[in-house]
Amino acid sequence: MASFSLVLAALIVCFAVFLADPGLGFSGSTEDGGCPCSDPSHCKVISTQPRKEVFAFWVGSTTWKHYDWTRITTIVMFHRHNPQLMCYAHSKGVRVVSMGIFPAANLSSVADRSAWVMAEVNEAIEQYLDGINIDIEYPMNKSEAHLLTNLVAETAHAFHISIPNSQVTYDVAWSPDCIDERCYDYKGIAEVCDFVFIMAYSEQSQIYGPCIAMANGPYNKTVRGVQGYLKLGIPPDKLVLGLSWDGVDYVCQKVSKDNVCSIERVPFRGAPCSDIPAKERTFAFIMTKLVDSTTGRLYNATYASPYYNYKTNVPGQIRQVWYDDVGSLTLRYEYAKSANLRGVGMWPVDSLNYTQTPAAENQTRAMWEAIDTFLK
Ligand SMILES: *[C@@H]1O[C@H](CO)[C@@H](O)[C@H](O)[C@H]1NC(C)=O
Ligand SMILES: *[C@@H]1O[C@H](CO)[C@@H](O)[C@H](O)[C@H]1NC(C)=O
Ligand SMILES: *[C@@H]1O[C@H](CO)[C@@H](O)[C@H](O)[C@H]1NC(C)=O
Ligand SMILES: *[C@@H]1O[C@H](CO)[C@@H](O)[C@H](O)[C@H]1NC(C)=O
Ligand SMILES: *[C@@H]1O[C@H](CO)[C@@H](O)[C@H](O)[C@H]1NC(C)=O
Ligand SMILES: *[C@@H]1O[C@H](CO)[C@@H](O)[C@H](O)[C@H]1NC(C)=O
Repeated sequence: MASFSLVLAALIVCFAVFLADPGLGFSGSTEDGGCPCSDPSHCKVISTQPRKEVFAFWVGSTTWKHYDWTRITTIVMFHRHNPQLMCYAHSKGVRVVSMGIFPAANLSSVADRSAWVMAEVNEAIEQYLDGINIDIEYPMNKSEAHLLTNLVAETAHAFHISIPNSQVTYDVAWSPDCIDERCYDYKGIAEVCDFVFIMAYSEQSQIYGPCIAMANGPYNKTVRGVQGYLKLGIPPDKLVLGLSWDGVDYVCQKVSKDNVCSIERVPFRGAPCSDIPAKERTFAFIMTKLVDSTTGRLYNATYASPYYNYKTNVPGQIRQVWYDDVGSLTLRYEYAKSANLRGVGMWPVDSLNYTQTPAAENQTRAMWEAIDTFLK
């Protein structure tokens, strides 16, 4: 297997170099004339490294000029591409990477893997991107995990050779403990790529205890998850703590007098209850609804997470929202700093209220400034 991988890697390298060689006509120019930036230097890949990461997922909102570009270091264009965003990010020294997925059924095909890797490298070159973020989350048994690690290794190798200073990262579950039946070789993945983004949210994807609304990323679970990665021997410098700027909004079947919200029982990958019935909500929405909530901001100290209840137009219906705000995020940034992690990140960066009104601007600025807890 090892020598086979080497041969494959060599093939990828040859082909990737071929693609990257301007003399061969694959210079990265798009057919309509190459670099889309008004300043051609903004089509260059960012070479700064290493640095503390602030890793942001962009899911398509048009407000991106209002992000705090002094704090972001990498932006993932999740399921989409925008050349103007690429130019703008590069003008601010921020890396822009694409998002990669690959089907589970094809993992054992060396030919499919290498074709995919080459296509991804080629696309990055054509679109002047700084790398790729791999977001593969399907169930997998330990016995097959090496195939996924191989894919990540091949991707990282091809990118690093073809695009100097490029970045290849992987999104991992909140804990390495076979979450959602994702029994991957997390240590192997972290070793072969630049770093992993720990998705410290959707931590209620599998609920085995009471079927109730809970924090999206409870502090105690989040810390235990990161410790799990560290215990595997992954250096802290390979870990970015990904936090959700979106919250979760549950319909309560009933609410107890101490505000425990019972939810609909929807199984997920072997667990009897899950967060599937929850609606994902932006921070902007959550702050607006908080104003007319029935409880005001409540706080669960074990989870270090705020929550509140609100009423809807449906008669008798109560909903419960769990989210993170400056207070709860600051605690998590402090933890990331104390654990010497590579960085922090947010899913998604679009979540804040970028309306240019004084109230919204204050709230949004405070969310960005909280990141300094980690950076300084
Ligand atoms: C996966 O395999 C199927 C069936 O052979 C093929 O049609 C498809 O193109 C492959 N996809 C990738 C990404 O390799
Ligand atoms: C994992 O292995 C079990 C038992 O062999 C099998 O039933 C299951 O389908 C496998 N899951 C995946 C995702 O391959
Ligand atoms: C977090 O705290 C809750 C509530 O006390 C507890 O039920 C849960 O087991 C704790 N989780 C971890 C990972 O410590
Ligand atoms: C953003 O803030 C403005 C001003 O406070 C408000 O009118 C608007 O509804 C907010 N957006 C969302 C999505 O809540
Ligand atoms: C947090 O909520 C859980 C239920 O999800 C509860 O068991 C625990 O006591 C709460 N902790 C605090 C400090 O309120
Ligand atoms: C915005 O923040 C500033 C300084 O913290 C404060 O003086 C001002 O009242 C705030 N404005 C609004 C609309 O909340």
